[in-house]
Amino acid sequence: MCGIVGYTGSSSAVPVLLSGLKRLEYRGYDSAGIAVNTGGSLQMVKASGHLEHLMERLKSTPLSGTSGIGHTRWATHGAPTDINAHPHMSNDGQFAVVHNGIIENYAQLREELTENGFQFSSETDTEVIVHLLEYYDQGDPKVAVMKAASRLEGSYALGVVCARFPDTLYTARLSSPLILGVGIGESFFASDVTALVRHTKNVIYMEDGEFACITPRGIEVFDSTGAPIRKTVSRVAWDVEAAEKGGYDHFMLKEIMEQPRALKLTIEPRIRDGRIVLDEFESFRAQLPNIRKVVITACGSAYHAGCVGRYVIEQLCRIPVEAELASELRYRNPIIDSSTLLIVVSQSGETADTIAALKECKARGATVLAVVNVVGSTIAKLADYVLYTWAGPEIAVATTKGYTTQVAVLDLFAVWAAEALGTISAQSCADYVKQLLSLPERAQRAIDLNPGIPALARQYKAADAMFFIGRNIDYAICLEGSLKLKEISYIHSEAYAAGELKHGTIALIDEGRLVVALACQEALFDKMMSNVREVKARGAQVLAAALEGNRRILSQADDVLYIPDTDPLFLAIPEIIPLQLFAYYMARENGCDIDKPKNLAKSVTVE
Ligand code: AGP
Repeated sequence: MCGIVGYTGSSSAVPVLLSGLKRLEYRGYDSAGIAVNTGGSLQMVKASGHLEHLMERLKSTPLSGTSGIGHTRWATHGAPTDINAHPHMSNDGQFAVVHNGIIENYAQLREELTENGFQFSSETDTEVIVHLLEYYDQGDPKVAVMKAASRLEGSYALGVVCARFPDTLYTARLSSPLILGVGIGESFFASDVTALVRHTKNVIYMEDGEFACITPRGIEVFDSTGAPIRKTVSRVAWDVEAAEKGGYDHFMLKEIMEQPRALKLTIEPRIRDGRIVLDEFESFRAQLPNIRKVVITACGSAYHAGCVGRYVIEQLCRIPVEAELASELRYRNPIIDSSTLLIVVSQSGETADTIAALKECKARGATVLAVVNVVGSTIAKLADYVLYTWAGPEIAVATTKGYTTQVAVLDLFAVWAAEALGTISAQSCADYVKQLLSLPERAQRAIDLNPGIPALARQYKAADAMFFIGRNIDYAICLEGSLKLKEISYIHSEAYAAGELKHGTIALIDEGRLVVALACQEALFDKMMSNVREVKARGAQVLAAALEGNRRILSQADDVLYIPDTDPLFLAIPEIIPLQLFAYYMARENGCDIDKPKNLAKSVTVE
């Protein structure tokens, strides 16, 4: 996903822009560039590849100025080349633009502009924007930005500089996140808060259809007619250290270890006097009995969290719950109406397929509850209700605390809704609340119980493929454990419902094949042991997960991960953590780029 930054103030713009781009690296990119207003003219330096390439170029082409814009590009239209990198500059040199999003009507705009004599140099959709700015330029860049934006279809977070106005930046937002930073004698914009928080914690979240003029003296927000809009200045709830590695070798390991705290911050504020209180959703309580079906939709790990939530909500609330991949739901012509509660799960709040599925279901009458981690994200704004996961910034591409806090919110929702619907007794509710409050310490115990995971990774690092098998919620956890391994170690693995093995896949179990068998659902333990015996009989190596104190597993499995004893409904959180660590150490043993796995971005904002 691309990232944009902008600065205007009294300091040199280049270091501020570069540090902002560095914080956005985690979003995934393959080229970068900056443009600086050097007192009446625009200078630009761009480079494909890592930020270091851009920094090298800047050593030989220094830029001096106190305002500018920067961009990290994740190529969608056109290869990751210097020419295609942002910023893009108008033919007359008056404008430069950086853009996050996709201009869907760029082809006809490019044709129209070419017919009007504009020269294109790149293959990107973004370049049409800067030529539109020149085309509509009649003196006031504000007007040119509004007119250019009115021609665009698709999504954009735009940052614009104009040579004639050295200390002013212009922004526009539609369906791509854009946050403004309010400093003292300086102002900023960025795609997300992590690029701003070292300079200011006072931020303004732009909404779709809004524009802004940004100067060192302050920020003016206005609508597409130019009418001013009063905006609230929010205070960022975390500090710059939260977006640093904190002494860990990788953000992923840091974020795995942060999970007890992230869970505490997510769960505890929602439990008062022994009861669950969902402030953001209490107004819906009276409408709950009208809900005939819950559909949980998301992508990737967020979908896997939804698969866990499906079991828990259905078990406690006794209403039908579906968990559906957003990329499938949006094209399935689903049976969704006003009796449907759609729960949308997303760490970034910017995933294109999830946004599309949300819009599709909302249009069919569903009530939308979002579970997101990023305040002010697109999904948070589109939903009717939002339950935030207070996990703090998640930098590693592979989500860990994002996933476990999503599961925690879904667990909280399930107990809250069951109590509201009267499908559980007051005593059961109180017992569940105690279990939920204990999850942060159980997460820590799951870490403490398994110091041997690095050794397991050394033992199994040469595996070229493996299976994760489980039943019920353990199967949902297999989905996430398998994805974690795949996306950072590049080792193929499959998650399988253990009961399905005999229906085909057991044919693939051969000598030495590693099978990760999750056997924490006590009621299904004997069934799982049968599966373990089946695969062992065919030569498999079995790494099992079992509840702390389970001795029977030792006679069947080659290695065991122990999980602290937890209510079977809430096991996903302590049980996934050793699997996260296993994936992390397998990737480490194989020398993989753990925080920035190949081909992956932190948020998939394109289809
Ligand atoms: C998980 O480790 C991946 N990074 C990916 O599957 C991710 O969960 C998915 O793209 C959904 O992202 P979101 O939660 O930001 O919507």
